[in-house]
Amino acid sequence: MPDPFVSRSLDEIRFWSRIMKEHSLFLKLGFRCEDTQLINEANNFYSVFEAIENKSHLFTVDTDPQVIRTFNEEVYIAAANIWSFKRKVLGLIIQCKLPGGNNLPLLVDHTSREANYFRNRLAELNQGRLEPLPDAIIDENVFFLRIMADHAKFIGHLLDPSERKLVEQARNFSHDFDQLLYQAIDLDSMRPQSQTHPLLDQFLDQNRVSVKSLRDFKATARDLIDACRIKSIIHPLLADHVFREAERFLYIIDAFEISLNQSKM
Ligand SMILES: [Fe+2]
Ligand SMILES: [Fe+2]
Repeated sequence: MPDPFVSRSLDEIRFWSRIMKEHSLFLKLGFRCEDTQLINEANNFYSVFEAIENKSHLFTVDTDPQVIRTFNEEVYIAAANIWSFKRKVLGLIIQCKLPGGNNLPLLVDHTSREANYFRNRLAELNQGRLEPLPDAIIDENVFFLRIMADHAKFIGHLLDPSERKLVEQARNFSHDFDQLLYQAIDLDSMRPQSQTHPLLDQFLDQNRVSVKSLRDFKATARDLIDACRIKSIIHPLLADHVFREAERFLYIIDAFEISLNQSKM
């Protein structure tokens, strides 16, 4: 029987290593051409995560868990390194040391939060300590709702201002997800009293509805960008990247729903 530790580890690494690889590309594209040192660092991270991604596809659910444990440690170090690179870049931008660059501070912070999330996942998997379900439901939703709210803001800012209707839609999503995030934070502060089955179930249902509609908006934006039908400075790969992150959140919501219904809280 396949070890769930192995399948969970491979699933996280396959998803997030591709994401980290793409972040390296996006950061590189936002640097000025004279920032050769930063460009080299970004290229290096691209290669590191590309190699990790390729390696993860060589393993299977039947791979020895000890081998996966060692792999997780190796990936943990890479995730920690890209996190500190992103924080360094954020510091440079905020101190106005990269004037004229095209990386938005919130986008750099956002990608560093994703690296931190990936690093924590790997640590949890290797330590074999998973959060109790009611805590995981709130924490993961707080994390991902903020990620979704950020995506809506990035899309709104990177579309050409003349795409008035799409910019307006992006702004509405941003507002919707800010509200959902505050609701999640309220539920968080009401812990543990808020962790009843009906409240958590409703929380997941409500978030799912909005994530589905944002996911569909991202898919439409991605297709329009691919077909060159709209004006923007959104890289086609960035459009697909944020779409995949919404799909990931939906997958997590559905998994929570199943576990919640199985558990007798
Ligand atoms: Fe990302
Ligand atoms: Fe993201």
